[in-house]
Amino acid sequence: SYLGIDLGTSGLRALLVDGEGRPVGSAERSYSVSHPHAGWAEQDPAAWIEALEGAVADLSAAHSEFAELRGIGVAGHMHGATLLDADDQVLRPCILWNDTRSHEEAARLDNAPDVRALSGNIVFPGFTAPKLAWVEAHEPDLFARTAKVLLPAAYLNLYLTGEHVCDMSDAAGTAWLDTGARDWSDRLLEAGHMRRDQMPRLVEGCAAAGRLRDDLRGRWGLSQPVTVAGGAGDNAAAACGIGARAEGDGFVSLGTSGVLLAARDGYAPAPETAVHTFCHAVPGRWYQMGVMLSATDSLNWLARITGASPAELTAPLGDTPAGPGRVRFLPYLSGERTPHNDAAIRGSFTGLGQDTTRGDMTRAVLEGVAFGLADSFFALRETGAELERLIAIGGGTRSAYWLRLIATITGVPLHLPEGGEFGAALGAARLGLIADTGANPDDILSKPELGAAVEPVSELRDAYAEAHVRFREAYPAIRAAQ
Ligand code: XUL
Repeated sequence: SYLGIDLGTSGLRALLVDGEGRPVGSAERSYSVSHPHAGWAEQDPAAWIEALEGAVADLSAAHSEFAELRGIGVAGHMHGATLLDADDQVLRPCILWNDTRSHEEAARLDNAPDVRALSGNIVFPGFTAPKLAWVEAHEPDLFARTAKVLLPAAYLNLYLTGEHVCDMSDAAGTAWLDTGARDWSDRLLEAGHMRRDQMPRLVEGCAAAGRLRDDLRGRWGLSQPVTVAGGAGDNAAAACGIGARAEGDGFVSLGTSGVLLAARDGYAPAPETAVHTFCHAVPGRWYQMGVMLSATDSLNWLARITGASPAELTAPLGDTPAGPGRVRFLPYLSGERTPHNDAAIRGSFTGLGQDTTRGDMTRAVLEGVAFGLADSFFALRETGAELERLIAIGGGTRSAYWLRLIATITGVPLHLPEGGEFGAALGAARLGLIADTGANPDDILSKPELGAAVEPVSELRDAYAEAHVRFREAYPAIRAAQ
């Protein structure tokens, strides 16, 4: 059997699969994020270990297949900085991906010569390099004692194997990696005042990172050797879980934040569009994505302030859009990454009238999120990504109206998985299986069963395209007004 671990922001999920990669059972443990100041988000790595041990204990008690464990893969929330001293002791709480304290350091690094060209990305405030620049400026003693910096998934790799080792997909989110060459960049490390010896060893996500430590094997009741894969950042792992590995494969995730991801056979960075370009978890492949910070979070906000549930808000709209509304919503409640790279922007409603109803505002919110995702979609297309259809995942896919709208505005059909497992934990388990067996990733990273396509409403294409132009024009005006 194989174990996939998804180290998420609010909890850890462990999924056990059989030798064919079919799900056997799962276990979860939650933990919290602390916000010591506005804009800060931190987590204690000890909570990850406790969650991992708890989930493993549950799985081994519930499933006899656990005793046959051969391989493990870890997926983690990306960009977090876990600082270790020379004895591998954690120096301070991990600074998370959604922590924006280092926005000034990020802007400085982003403007430094060669940084975008080598890393292939804007240095967003959430990325790892600016976090270390912040530590250098504000916690110089800790900075001086930092012997290694590990991403969250790599910290679990260290716990599991005793080695400092990180996969390429996660490493690409640090702004220290030459993303095209798949190696740490001396130039980028120097720009961030870091050294190569502070970095973990790099491996491909589906390659072996090491073996499970003997003491853990003993404690977990395993007698055979267990391979630990390089693992992945959570988005690359989700792509592995849903079979998005080659050109033409992509997904839209309508979660708290929205992600539009395209697998790429080549390296075609486009930092000027705020598209993220990262290594995939398999050799010779990359992926690109647009990240929207408030997707279902926008609808949840409207639900919160109107006292209605998201389902109550969307039900009166029916299942099929009827053309763009007069009210417009900019979905920047927490700032935006793609396409604006603007942490300070906030959302807006325009076009309100005496006759505006809750239904009009709900429709505007769904449209605003769809337009924002379409901005990422068209930015990905401009980089050459060939996306003829998208798999749709996440809580927001419960709204048929929203799916129809996104299909119409992007002009491509959306396909829903028929249920079952297809998330980051499955992707991580698949990486563990490939690393252990040497199987061809193309054979293992398959797509789930897909339901009937949600097709664009072709008569409404032009009307929504026109409304999308006006949506885009609103951003600079709202920016100037704030
Ligand atoms: C990706 C990103 C998030 C985290 C959260 O760039 O910041 O998707 O990986 O899990």
